[in-house]
Amino acid sequence: MIPTNEQIAALIREDSVHKSVYTDPTLFKLEMERIYGYAWIYVGHESQVKNPGDYHTTRIGDQDVIMVRGANQQVSVLYNRCPHKGAKLVADGDGSVGKFFRCPYHAWTFKLDGQHLSAPLKSGFEGTCYDPKHPDFSMVSVARVDSYRGFVFASQAAFGPDLKTFLGGVITSIDNLCDRSPVGEVEVAGGIFRVQQRSNWKVFYENLHDTMHARVTHESSVDAARGQAEAIGEMPFELLIMDGNGEPYDFWEKLELRAYHNGHGYMEAIFDPGAAERDEVARAHFECLSQAYGAQRAKEILGMNRHNTVIYGSGSPHTVFMQFRVIRPIAVDQTMVEIQTFRCKGAPDAVFDRALTYANVINSPSSNVMPDDVEVYARCQEGNMTRGGEWISMHRYAGTDKALEDGAVSTNGTSELPMRNQFAAWKQFMTATLIAKESTHAA
Ligand code: FES
Ligand SMILES: [Fe+2]
Repeated sequence: MIPTNEQIAALIREDSVHKSVYTDPTLFKLEMERIYGYAWIYVGHESQVKNPGDYHTTRIGDQDVIMVRGANQQVSVLYNRCPHKGAKLVADGDGSVGKFFRCPYHAWTFKLDGQHLSAPLKSGFEGTCYDPKHPDFSMVSVARVDSYRGFVFASQAAFGPDLKTFLGGVITSIDNLCDRSPVGEVEVAGGIFRVQQRSNWKVFYENLHDTMHARVTHESSVDAARGQAEAIGEMPFELLIMDGNGEPYDFWEKLELRAYHNGHGYMEAIFDPGAAERDEVARAHFECLSQAYGAQRAKEILGMNRHNTVIYGSGSPHTVFMQFRVIRPIAVDQTMVEIQTFRCKGAPDAVFDRALTYANVINSPSSNVMPDDVEVYARCQEGNMTRGGEWISMHRYAGTDKALEDGAVSTNGTSELPMRNQFAAWKQFMTATLIAKESTHAA
């Protein structure tokens, strides 16, 4: 039975949530409709479909979609379904369909924007209401598609805020990622990692700003990095980024956490930009940006020192190490994470090498760090399936968050503000208050 809005709202308190939000398949199904059926979701980057006919497949919630570049260079996002019998038109992944889609089942064809092109043996349709111009015979486009500096998002709702309004304050993270290129452009490069997690999708979003777990969950990789640094008498970049998780609690307390409407937010970076300036790669990057924008602006760009940004429902861009971890719910207890790494066009090669090193050492499936997180997420999932209690605590520094016009800021960097903010948005989406409001406007 579908829970009422009152029942859903009762699952979220100011400082705690009911564990069923992670374990109940009915709620998961509702999330697919009420969050993923409404929010703007990152589909992919334009650089993944460079030429007409190039495509990249992904999912918006439980919907298989194709991002494809058209003959007119326009990027479309279409449901991956043939209108004949429903076959998925392209296999999951990336590729090119050439000049048009051709269904692998009975060879109906479609233009790159999804419009019906032809069906074999036309005589069989004579006397029927088959009409190539009727929408029933074309592929269906996702309701709204928009792109911000090459990042393509789509919303399955025909109404609601535009992309920029929806993103609010976190749009500055996309800006900063692009601004790190002397020509203001980035491209997906170096291949993609995928990690299947045995846990609900929301746990990962919460962890992205969970500063209290770092020195505990990642103790083994911190110890290994420190041991190795001692053995070789220096702390190279590869070890430094593992060592960062071992900072004491008072270090984390000083970081700023920003929370925006719709569940978005970011946390300040772990690595000191002052230290980065003493570093050879950072210095070369600074020189390159200084030539393009002037030293003052270059300093501002590289000085915007953010760690994970959360774009709720889409994933997490990392501006300093140029990646986007795309988070895809698969089932109530299964999540797929795709890690895209970006090259800043025109920046020194060493900057991209560093992004790859960060992805390899920290986030890849075989890294020294991310498997720690994946393990604790699965433990949360399994623990929450037991009868050992009902509620999940988000009490840390509750009641101290400082409200801002577009969200809130933490008083302390170990605050559970990001989780509280994400669940406040979750409640709004799931009780359809946002959707109802927008529908009323539309009417
Ligand atoms: S299912 Fe696509 S042509 Fe038949
Ligand atoms: Fe972690």
